Formats: sequence, structure tokens, C-alpha cells
Amino acid sequence: MTISTCVFSVFFIISMEDLVNGEWHELKSVMEGDDLTLQTGVAELKGEDETMWLFTSGSQTTRIAQMYQSKVSLHKRLADRSQLDQQTGSLTIRNISASESGLYKLELTINDFISRRTFRVDVYAPVPVPFISAASSLSPIHDHDTSQPPEETEDPNRDFCSVLCSARNDRDVSISWYKGSEMMNQTSNPDLNIILSLPLELHYNDSEIYSCTTANPVSNKSVRLHMREICTRHEDLVNGEQHELKTVMEGDVLTLQTGVAELKGEDKTMWLFTSGSQTTRIAQMYQSKVSLHKRLTDRSQLDQQTGSLTIRNISASESGLYKLELTINDFISRRTFRVDVYAPVPVPFISSASSLSPIHDHDFCSALCSVRNDRDMSISWYKGSEMMIQTSNPDLNIILSLPLELHYNDSEIYSCTTANPVSNKSVRLHMREICQHIEHTHIEHEDCLDHCGGTEALIRLVLSGLVGIATVVFLVDHVRICSEKRRAAASV
Ligand SMILES: *[C@@H]1O[C@H](CO)[C@@H](O)[C@H](O)[C@H]1NC(C)=O
Ligand SMILES: *[C@@H]1O[C@H](CO)[C@@H](O)[C@H](O)[C@H]1NC(C)=O
Ligand SMILES: *[C@@H]1O[C@H](CO)[C@@H](O)[C@H](O)[C@H]1NC(C)=O
Ligand SMILES: *[C@@H]1O[C@H](CO)[C@@H](O)[C@H](O)[C@H]1NC(C)=O
Ligand SMILES: *[C@@H]1O[C@H](CO)[C@@H](O)[C@H](O)[C@H]1NC(C)=O
Ligand SMILES: *[C@@H]1O[C@H](CO)[C@@H](O)[C@H](O)[C@H]1NC(C)=O
Ligand SMILES: *[C@@H]1O[C@H](CO)[C@@H](O)[C@H](O)[C@H]1NC(C)=O
Repeated sequence: MTISTCVFSVFFIISMEDLVNGEWHELKSVMEGDDLTLQTGVAELKGEDETMWLFTSGSQTTRIAQMYQSKVSLHKRLADRSQLDQQTGSLTIRNISASESGLYKLELTINDFISRRTFRVDVYAPVPVPFISAASSLSPIHDHDTSQPPEETEDPNRDFCSVLCSARNDRDVSISWYKGSEMMNQTSNPDLNIILSLPLELHYNDSEIYSCTTANPVSNKSVRLHMREICTRHEDLVNGEQHELKTVMEGDVLTLQTGVAELKGEDKTMWLFTSGSQTTRIAQMYQSKVSLHKRLTDRSQLDQQTGSLTIRNISASESGLYKLELTINDFISRRTFRVDVYAPVPVPFISSASSLSPIHDHDFCSALCSVRNDRDMSISWYKGSEMMIQTSNPDLNIILSLPLELHYNDSEIYSCTTANPVSNKSVRLHMREICQHIEHTHIEHEDCLDHCGGTEALIRLVLSGLVGIATVVFLVDHVRICSEKRRAAASV
């Protein structure tokens, strides 16, 4: 034995001391699709050394790779995506799959020594994206707890909102709430056939940034809590359920998200629509088969991956409650959206409002902005970009109108705006046009004040003129009749 081989062997035996302990495993966590590399720890193998890699999953052990006299052989399942380093004997497997989790055993034969090394490899799928919903919406399918006194749910603290973060459970998955970057609460469960969920109580005026994170040893995913969408006020609760509000304009596209990142074939998605007392099943997906209500077939779609529903060219009659029922394993998760479809607001019209003005000061002009009332509509006057006054009215059978008093010499830019939750329309006040009529009467009146006597004289003059003409006509006629009588008398 040469000196160099001897030194090598001594080094090797020492370094193997903590590795050859039969039960001792090195842990490797890797994400599905990633590359796994298992090192032998040996710097350089000789031609006579033998390298063997075994894989054990459950009770089955397979030889997956071998090298002897520089000849490498790989298991056929791995041939196209693995490689054995000729110099070190280290094994690399590309695009690893979850089924390749297990024990990887190395047996190195160097001279007369056999050294063993064992790796426990855990291949994890990327963690699912969590979904955040109103706390009341997730419940186990079989667990109808009737023991709870109804008064407790009847009188929740109005200032608080409960939200729930959920995710399909998987190996070593935990779910946590974060306030900013600080973790508040965390949970996990060894039972993989459940939906993991973690509640959070919030004050309505809480302005912190909350997020929910799912994590496993190789990945994590976060979703931010949008309090406006999830925490609807107590007034918005219908039948004790919390709703997420959606406002959309007639003709637009409505998209309702399930919040689930990826559904499995066995999961069942159902969308129900309730308007008034009528509930209709509008969409369903089971085992990747989608069925849509006939009224919606040509303008809606159910996302096969997430179960999210999209309806194009939505109409006002499609305002109502949209309920999602997701069945994942044995759990039903429910989510309700209240959808309000609004028509675009009409353009307001501005008119002169002289008769409404209580002020008889001639330096002022009154303008009136009006529009036919509709749901959640308001009408406002703006001076430049600053709102001056606003009005709205729950009675939809009226014309909404809002007056504005202006000084004639006012040079500001005024506009009137109608708005509802989805749209607004503005019209600029053109003072010359609106105040013209009043201005006109105003000037006439002034004329009268100054020259009223003159007008009277003119009328008198005209009247006396008319009387004069009548007198002349009478006289001429009289003279004619008299001369005719005289002529007749002379001829007799
Ligand atoms: C990785 O393996 C999966 C099957 O486990 C296969 O569907 C996918 O196409 C592979 N990806 C690449 C990049 O080869
Ligand atoms: C964490 O969650 C548990 C219930 O899952 C709850 O009892 C506990 O109060 C929570 N802790 C905090 C700090 O919110
Ligand atoms: C939130 O409301 C509570 C009481 O209702 C009050 O004590 C607290 O100061 C408020 N916080 C903020 C940020 O407004
Ligand atoms: C999430 O993963 C990123 C890397 O992808 C890491 O930097 C971060 O610390 C992880 N966060 C948590 C909360 O585990
Ligand atoms: C949208 O629906 C309305 C009826 O609600 C219909 O009159 C209109 O043609 C539709 N528009 C498009 C672009 O399909
Ligand atoms: C408008 O008229 C009022 C009095 O009539 C006067 O006080 C004011 O300065 C005038 N403003 C302008 C911009 O001319
Ligand atoms: C009107 O709508 C536009 C978007 O279309 C928006 O930017 C603007 O803030 C709205 N104005 C008002 C007064 O609501």
C-alpha cells in the first residue's frame, strides 16, 4: 500500500465514524420538481472503488445507481434525469417527484472497507396558497353544533370581525397569521384529510397589515387580508352569514374567486344564486366536468383549476347572493358574495332655478342640477375639485335635484356630478347660458325703474293718436253722408 492510499483510508475511516452508525440519517428536504443531490463526502474515487446507491420506500428496496471500474449504471426510471459523478460518486436526480421520498443509502467499497451513509429525503409539493374567508363560512360537513345558545351568535360584538384562514392540509404544513412581519398565531395538524384553518379576531378600525401564510419545510405562500372585502359590517349580515360585497356595472364582467389555488379532481364546486326567495344552481364542477345553467352557458365560465366563476355582460337582474359550496375531502367550505349590479349613472342636467330662489337680490343667480334618482345615487356640486354640497334620497321614484346660488360676478368653475358605486358623470356649469334668462329679466326690470314715466307718455301718445284717427275717420264719414243728403234734396 502506498503512503497516499494509506493516508486516504485513515481520513476516510475517521470521517465515516459518525456516518456508519446504522440508524443515523441525514435529512434532506426538497421541493417537487427540484434537483436532489446526495454527496458521498469523498473527494476522489479510484477505479477499483465501488459506489452503490439504494432507495428504500416502504418495504421495497431498489438499487438505483452503481459505479465500478468507472462504469456507471442507473435504474431505468432515472436514466434520463440523473447522474453519478465519476469522481466523487455523488448522485444527482433532476425533477424529483413526491413518490421519490424515502431512504437513500450509499454503500462505498474502498479497498476492503464498506462505508455506509443514509439520507432521509422528504420531497414536498409546494405549499398550497391559503384562502381567507369570513369566519362563519367554513364548517365541517357533519358537525352541526346545535348545543350553542342562539343568543350568542345573535349579539356579536359589533366592533369585531372574525376571519378565517384555511388551506388544504398536507405533510408538515403549518398555517399562520402575521401582523406585519410578526407572527401572531400558528397551527398544524398531523391528520392530512382535513382543511387546516386558523381564526383571527379583528377590530373594525384596525389599520395594521395582516397576512396569512402557509409553510412547509421547502416553501411558503402568503395572502394579504383585505379587510374591506372580508369584514362586512354587522348590518350586512343576512341570515347570520357574512357576505363579501361586490359592486359591478351592468354589461361588465363579474368574477367570483373561490380563493383556492388548485382543486383536485375529487373536489366538488357548486355555485348557487339567490334573488328574492328563489335559489338556482348556476354552476357546478365535479371530476373536472363543468355544467352551467342554460341562461349562462354562452357568457360564463368556471375555472377548472380554481373553481372561480366568471359571468360576462352581467345584467341588473343578476344582482343577488352568490353562494359557493366547495367540498374538499369531507369538509364543506361556504362563501357568500352579495353582488350589486348597477347601471351607469345618467348625466345630470343643469337648469336655471329663478323661481326657486328665495333671495330677491338681483346680484344672484340660482342653478339647479337634476337627475332621475336610482339606487345608491348621489348628486353633488363641485367648485373646482372641491365638493360643496351633496344629496341623495332612498325614494327611487323622484327626480333628485340640488340648487346652487351664485353671484353674477363669480368666476369659479362649477360642475355637477352624479355618482353611484360604479360610475360617475359630470357636467360643467356654463353660467352665461344658465343665468342668461334671469339676467335678461333683471335688465328689463331695471329699464322699467329708470324709464317707466317715458313709457307711460308713449302709451298716452299712441292712445291719443288712435283717438285722433278715429275722430278724423268719423268726421270724414259724417261730411260725406251730409253732402249726399244735400245732393238728394237738391235733385228732388
Ligand atoms: C417533471 O416530472 C413530472 C412528473 O413527475 C412531469 O410531469 C414534468 O413534465 C417533468 N418536468 C420536466 C421539466 O421535465
Ligand atoms: C391562537 O389561536 C387559538 C385558537 O386556534 C386561540 O385560542 C388563541 O387565543 C390564539 N392566540 C392569539 C395570540 O391570537
Ligand atoms: C379603535 O376603536 C377603539 C374603541 O372602539 C379605540 O379605543 C381605538 O383607539 C381605535 N383605534 C383607532 C386606530 O382608531
Ligand atoms: C418564505 O420563503 C422565502 C423564500 O422563498 C423566505 O425568504 C422567507 O423567510 C419565508 N418566510 C417564512 C415566513 O417562512
Ligand atoms: C348584453 O346583454 C344585454 C341584455 O342583458 C344585450 O341586450 C346585449 O346585446 C348584450 N351585449 C353583449 C355585448 O353581448
Ligand atoms: C363681486 O361683487 C361683490 C359685491 O357685489 C364684490 O364684493 C366682489 O369683490 C366681486 N368679486 C369679483 C371677483 O368681482
Ligand atoms: C369618477 O370616476 C373616475 C373613474 O372613472 C374616478 O377616477 C373619479 O375619482 C370619480 N370621481 C368621483 C367624484 O367619484
